[in-house]
Amino acid sequence: MRIFLDTANIEEIKRAARLGVVSGVTTNPSLVSKEGTADYEAIIKEICSIIPGPISTEVLVEGVEPMIEQARQIATWAPNVVIKIPAGTDGLEVTSVLAKEGIKVNFTLCFSLNQSLLGALAGASYVSPFIGRLDDAGHNGMDLLEDIVEVFDHYQLDTEVIAASIRHPQHCLTAARIGAHIATVPYNVLMQMIRHPLTDIGISRFMSDWKQASK
Ligand code: G3P
Repeated sequence: MRIFLDTANIEEIKRAARLGVVSGVTTNPSLVSKEGTADYEAIIKEICSIIPGPISTEVLVEGVEPMIEQARQIATWAPNVVIKIPAGTDGLEVTSVLAKEGIKVNFTLCFSLNQSLLGALAGASYVSPFIGRLDDAGHNGMDLLEDIVEVFDHYQLDTEVIAASIRHPQHCLTAARIGAHIATVPYNVLMQMIRHPLTDIGISRFMSDWKQASK
């Protein structure tokens, strides 16, 4: 399973890039708005220059024609940009147009297998089921992820499944067990994934033992 970073924070992206485990970034309008800039193009271009992998960038408009027009514009910002299109009737039509033009789409805000399947059939490169938000609503996000992975695998669909709206390390390991292609994780979850108290205790014991021996 590959790891994408789910943030628009440049410092977090730079720090995570140095770890050598992040192969893409996903953003959304809420994440970008937290960064206190109105220059959407500049921040996305900067992210695209830090991580060479796919950088998901959502359209900021609604309606078929406005979304297509804006997506075409965003697609010129960098070679690694991927356009996030929200699931829905308009989103399907937009995805199908963009896919035919060779523009990569991340079909986002997926909350059902049917939405995900239709996104894949329309030509999306990625579908993003929002696991945490389903859990918040009293469902089991991982059950949906498992269904999508199984069905895509069954029909050998090329569309990759991104486990999105990840809230904690348990989500990551379940997504990996299920066989999600990608998990997109907030920076704090990435940090939680690598930390283990026994590792910290082990390091400090090794250091103090060595100090004693070398006195
Ligand atoms: O990748 C989708 C993500 O940004 C949404 O996460 O925590 O707002 O549900 P969250």
